[in-house]
Amino acid sequence: GLPPRVRIHEVGPRDGLQNEKGAVPTEVKAEFIRRLAGAGLTTVEATSFVHPKWVPQLADAEQLFPQVRDLAGVHLPVLVPNERGLDRALALGARRVAVFASATESFAKANLNRTVDEALAMFAPVVARAKATGTGADQVHVRGYLSMCFGDPWEGPVPIPQVVRVCRALLDLGCDELSLGDTIGVATPGHVRALLTALNDQGVPTDRVGVHFHDTYGQALANTLAALQHGVTTVDASAGGLGGCPYAKSATGNLATEDLVWMLHGLGIETGVDLGRLTATSAWMADRLGRPSPSRTVRALSHQ
Ligand code: HMG
Ligand code: MG
Repeated sequence: GLPPRVRIHEVGPRDGLQNEKGAVPTEVKAEFIRRLAGAGLTTVEATSFVHPKWVPQLADAEQLFPQVRDLAGVHLPVLVPNERGLDRALALGARRVAVFASATESFAKANLNRTVDEALAMFAPVVARAKATGTGADQVHVRGYLSMCFGDPWEGPVPIPQVVRVCRALLDLGCDELSLGDTIGVATPGHVRALLTALNDQGVPTDRVGVHFHDTYGQALANTLAALQHGVTTVDASAGGLGGCPYAKSATGNLATEDLVWMLHGLGIETGVDLGRLTATSAWMADRLGRPSPSRTVRALSHQ
């Protein structure tokens, strides 16, 4: 069966905008986030507190976050690679953070300048301190991303046990949820099913797992459906299909939030998202970026 409701984890302002060639003004980013919240998205990943030289596109995190942090009814997770990043995020009142690991050595090196295990060691105090911050409903929530869960541009297909090991390690550090990243968009539905099944076999419950598909080979929706059929209820997507990763050659845009919402609503699955307002937001953002959205749904609904 399929779940009655799916929680969309919107990553456009972070995964989408981290990959833009031109500079996007902070004010435009803040307006993008406000419009996404206004369209009914309740989790909007806002930015990253990473090294500004590594991701110059998000170097304005200190200026941006205070402009949106008081938005009602929306969680605004931010990426933090290390304790320096956590300090910056907590100083501004962030209440949801995400660390981001890699299933492969090549990407760990390229993205974090660390081996897989060195990166986990870097995250350990981040997760521990985040979980020790705040109490009850105010406790900081920690997501653990895992990149290259299916294929890696340097190493090819990634063996499932290698992925499962790092998933377990992230949960053992204390992460509240995982997001399985198909960073370069090479997954297919059978592979998704096999990974989710292997995770269950190793004691990772599906309700702790979200999926994060990039759409390079046009498989993101099919992969999402396979994950939903397996019981996954958290799906990452990026408004208008923006996105990619500057440290993974061949990464293209994320699953477009509009394409996801079109499918989910067609299946009778609730999202809380107003597709008209969302599409208008992506069309507005496409104008700011000076090129059309790659989302098929955005294009279809914009030309009616
Ligand atoms: P490093 O060069 O090894 O850093 O980079 P370091 O720990 O040696 O520190 C060097 C200097 O940087 C120090 O300054 C630090 O203070 C400073 P110095 O003492 O030399 O003056 N520094 C910082 N400054 C500000 N904020 C910080 C910070 N950290 C150190 N947080 C590092 C290591 C992790 C910092 C670097 O590799 C980095 O920032 N990487 C981020 C890469 C990134 O953001 N990639 C994109 C996100 S991942 C993704 O997109 C995939 C995902 O979507 C899922 C999927 O699709 O698979 C999530
Ligand atoms: Mg991504």
